[in-house]
Amino acid sequence: MKGFDIINLEECSSSNTYLKDRVDFYLPYTVVRCIKQTEGRGRWGRRWFSMKDKSLTFSILFAIRESEEYIYYPLIIVLSLIKLLEIHSFNPFFLWPNDIYISNRKLIGILNESITRGSNSFLISGIGINVNQEEEDFPQPIKDTAISLRMISGKIFNLEKILNEFLNKLSFYIKNRLSLDSINKVLKENSLIKENEEIVVKLRDRTISGVFKGYTRDFKLKLLVGEKIMEFYNGDVLRVANAGD
Ligand code: BTN
Repeated sequence: MKGFDIINLEECSSSNTYLKDRVDFYLPYTVVRCIKQTEGRGRWGRRWFSMKDKSLTFSILFAIRESEEYIYYPLIIVLSLIKLLEIHSFNPFFLWPNDIYISNRKLIGILNESITRGSNSFLISGIGINVNQEEEDFPQPIKDTAISLRMISGKIFNLEKILNEFLNKLSFYIKNRLSLDSINKVLKENSLIKENEEIVVKLRDRTISGVFKGYTRDFKLKLLVGEKIMEFYNGDVLRVANAGD
């Protein structure tokens, strides 16, 4: 790869939707940043709250040449974000499948969407980082569950600088391919849920309780339910220990 091409849009509804609609037009490794994102989308059709100058919202276009890249790109995004936060002296935790938490509150959400055009396959990874919000900026449903870098550190951050630092890390892992096992190890070390912890996996139509047993090599979550291990490739994880919080 030569590097990322960054397109800054003053305003758009969703950087994921913008790239999805123009996948034939842009080259792989194009990054679309919405300076003001008005209708950010989250997983399971949820909304993603963002504010101009306070949120960093962008999406990256990847061309998929081999199926392992559907797993590899999302994983190195999480890994790059963790490394970036650690350099800035934060203590981030990973919550499967692809959220980043600090102090038990959500700091970063990621929406991965795959699309095909003829025989070409693409992945669009949209990343939303709460950077400069203050507690009162978050609306009611997420007021007690969201956090920003400013709320943790008291500092105001330059959004462009964070984006560039992140993309530098990401391009390193694109150029220097890691094994899935070594990424699995880092994410396990930084996992919000610990092995043998009781959790609930929420799917679209049901919730399943069990004991967290780690991840498969292709990053499915393993849950011990009764005496059987179930594997999930998507879902929301709720921590039982935090249920009353
Ligand atoms: C989630 O936690 O459910 C995922 C949230 C992903 C939000 C980002 S912001 C940039 C990109 N554009 C979108 O519309 N969504 C993603």
